[in-house]
Amino acid sequence: MKKINIAIDGPSGVGKSTIADIVAEKLNMRHLDTGAMYRCVAYKTLKDGVNIQDEKAMSDLMDTIDIHFDEDNHVYLDGEDVSKEIRMNNVSMQASKTSQLGIVRKKLVNLQQKVCANKGFIVDGRDICSVVLPDAEVKIFMSASSKARAQRRYDEYISKGIDADYETIYQDIVARDYQDMHREISPLVKTEDAIEIDTSDLTIDEVVSKVLDIVG
Ligand code: DC
Repeated sequence: MKKINIAIDGPSGVGKSTIADIVAEKLNMRHLDTGAMYRCVAYKTLKDGVNIQDEKAMSDLMDTIDIHFDEDNHVYLDGEDVSKEIRMNNVSMQASKTSQLGIVRKKLVNLQQKVCANKGFIVDGRDICSVVLPDAEVKIFMSASSKARAQRRYDEYISKGIDADYETIYQDIVARDYQDMHREISPLVKTEDAIEIDTSDLTIDEVVSKVLDIVG
């Protein structure tokens, strides 16, 4: 296992998680999917009917929430495997909103930093290079046009036999990009020291080999 941390940031649907999973396997490192953590918070607010503008309720929720991953990166919320549920579209939109809250970010960033303290992690998210791991040995910013990202998501749904509408997916991506890039706390940015990979016209294998080249 490499005794380094690799930070990967980028917008929704750019393939960060897929790439991080493959690279982690190849380098015998662990993949920390921070988006899954924000999704757990969002899912819990929906499940428990918590008003996210209610500061006291959100503070109680963050004080008691338990998020952990197993060896296969299944994510558990308060002991229940929610890996599938947190990928639903309504959870994606809610995660984009709850991740704007300082109280949510403070707790999750703290947890992420503790997990990665001993190195050996590939961490993907929006604020990894800028806030969570500013001293990461490798920093990457993955980008792709919103059309390319929407097309990939559409193809993914169709291949799984899920009904999908390209235009709706495209509009969701544009809306989430806007929210993630314009929020007050830790907006998605490309830090100056991050190496950008534009994946619009690249296959998964091509992106993986670019990342491996950068890691060296
Ligand atoms: O990467 P994802 O689509 O699973 O992330 C879900 C939401 O969580 C996304 O809208 C932005 C937010 N997020 C964040 O604010 N910071 C991170 N480090 C990871 C995700």
